[in-house]
Order: sequence, then C-alpha cells, then structure tokens
Amino acid sequence: MARENLPATMASTIIDPSVKEQDRSGIITVGDVAILRFLAATELIETDLWQQYNELGGIQDSEVPGGSGSRLYTKALEVLDGDMPQYIHDNTEDEMTHELFINAYLVSKGAEPVSLDPFRTLPSSQATGAQQIGRLTNLMQLSVDTTWYTRYRSRTGNPRTDDDVQPDPSKPHHISDLTQAIANTAGFHFATIEQGGTSLYPQVAQRVTSLEVLRIVLSLGGTEICHFQTWSDKAGNSPQLSVVDPVTGSTVTFPDLNSPPLGGEDFQTNLIMPEPTAFLNRNLPACSIIRPTATKGAAMGALKAFTAGGLFIGQSPQFFKFMRTLAIEADLAVRQ
Ligand SMILES: [Fe+2]
Ligand SMILES: [Fe+2]
Repeated sequence: MARENLPATMASTIIDPSVKEQDRSGIITVGDVAILRFLAATELIETDLWQQYNELGGIQDSEVPGGSGSRLYTKALEVLDGDMPQYIHDNTEDEMTHELFINAYLVSKGAEPVSLDPFRTLPSSQATGAQQIGRLTNLMQLSVDTTWYTRYRSRTGNPRTDDDVQPDPSKPHHISDLTQAIANTAGFHFATIEQGGTSLYPQVAQRVTSLEVLRIVLSLGGTEICHFQTWSDKAGNSPQLSVVDPVTGSTVTFPDLNSPPLGGEDFQTNLIMPEPTAFLNRNLPACSIIRPTATKGAAMGALKAFTAGGLFIGQSPQFFKFMRTLAIEADLAVRQ
C-alpha cells in the first residue's frame, strides 16, 4: 500500500515505521506516568526499610550513610552468611538509586515526582546503632509472608496460569536465641520484600506503552530478581530455633527445612533457582519462571502485601489514601 493512498494521519501511524518508533520511545502516556509514580513510591518504601536494616546490620558508609551498627545483631546476621552486611548495604543502595532514577525520569518528562516525606512519622528502633528519625515503615512488628519459599520450589503445588488467583500475602557462642531469631526473621523478610519487587516489575511492564519506560521497568526489575535470589539462598541458612518474643508473647519457630517432616524439593534449602511450573496454559510444558506475573490489580496487590506484612502499622489514614490513589491509577493504566 503506497503512502499517498492513505490519509495523512494513517500514513504516519501505519506506514512510516521510524515515526512510529520515535513516538513510542519519546512519548510518555498518562498510564506510563501512573505506573512509574507507583513504582517510585514502592522504591521509596523499600529504601526506607532497607536503610533501617543497613543502620543496624549493614555497612554504614558514604554510599549508604546513617546509623552505627549493632554488633551482636550483625554477628547473628553473619551466621546466615558472612557477606550479609555487604549485601544489605548493596540492596539499600540499589533501592536508593531506583527511587532517585524513577523520580528524576518523571521530572525529565514533565511529570510530577513522588515524595512520601510528609509520612515519615513512624518511630525508629531503639536498638543501639539506629538513627532516631521519622520512618515510613515499621520493622518491629512484622508478619513475614514466607509463601514464596515453596512457591518457587514446588513443581506441582504451584499453578501459575492466567486463571489462577494470586496467593494471599501472611546460636552460636554469645548470640542469644532471641537475637538470632530477629536476624533469621530479617533474613526471610529480605527475600519476601524482594520477591515482591521481582513480580511487580514484570506485572506492570505488560501495561506500559513507551519502549523507553518498558526498558526502565525491565532494567530495574532485573535487579529485584538479583536481590531475591540472593536472599532466597541466605534465608535457607537460618539456624533452627524456637523462641518466645518477650514483648509480644508470640512464638517464632525456624524448623530444620532439610529433614522430615520437611525436606524434599519443596523445602531443600539449596534449591534457590526457580523450579519449572505451569505457565499461561496447562497444556504447555512446565517452565522456570518468575511468579506470579499476572498484571491485573498488580499495584493494589503489592500495596496489600506490604500492608499485610505490618510495614505500615502506625501510618496515618492520609498515607493509606495517598498510596491507594497511586495504586488505583497504576492499575488503570493500559498499553496503547
Ligand atoms: Fe527497587
Ligand atoms: Fe527491591
């Protein structure tokens, strides 16, 4: 079909591939802005929680300033892996760069960046080493959803087709059992948070329009996967123990994951790569994938998971209203 046979508008959109490509990489749609603004907010939240972990158990330096470390807590984390302080530091810095990059990109496109500064109202940990500043997130009363552990290991009990519903979110030497339990909990929480990011990025990527925004989402999302797999490996090293929290009275138990009644492919701690599972259609062969990746309601799902884990205990109604609005707008975005 010759260009001159078409109306001008159709000619530019159908025939001239260079114009089309330019349009797709240069234009940022309302939906793209909404998705990026929700991602910016989640990165601000991640940065806030990771900074708190870094102040106590990471490496405090010019790249990730703040805090002065807790010696025994850091030793307990090192029981999971001697590199834990470095990994916590690097994960924290990654989240800071994600948040700064997405907001700067929004500004470069004339869109409004996201600030959660008015909501930095929650108290800091009183443990030695923590800064005493207002926080966005609570890390002192968590319900850590550990369903990712078997979700990524199971080949059979793990349907991930488009029809499936998304899962509900739910001592050596002188380190005391309580300190080790706090470190173990952090070890699992790290993986819980990062598997959330691992799913969120591919979930929203399916609804972005601009190729450049797609590149951003794929590129940042990939580092969330790096984080998740690292933490998935370290969580499995948590020493077996059971302890009662003297403040809340609740019991936390870390079982031997490699022996009966556990053990096997669903629990074996060195199975840190995704096992193949059903994907898209059960008639297709099983495939090793990130899971879940269904796009419908992705932003609200992420917000609900954060909330169910207790991260926002103590936050104001204004905070929840602000975050819900961002999530609704991101979930309304459609690929054009
Ligand atoms: Fe991130
Ligand atoms: Fe992350």
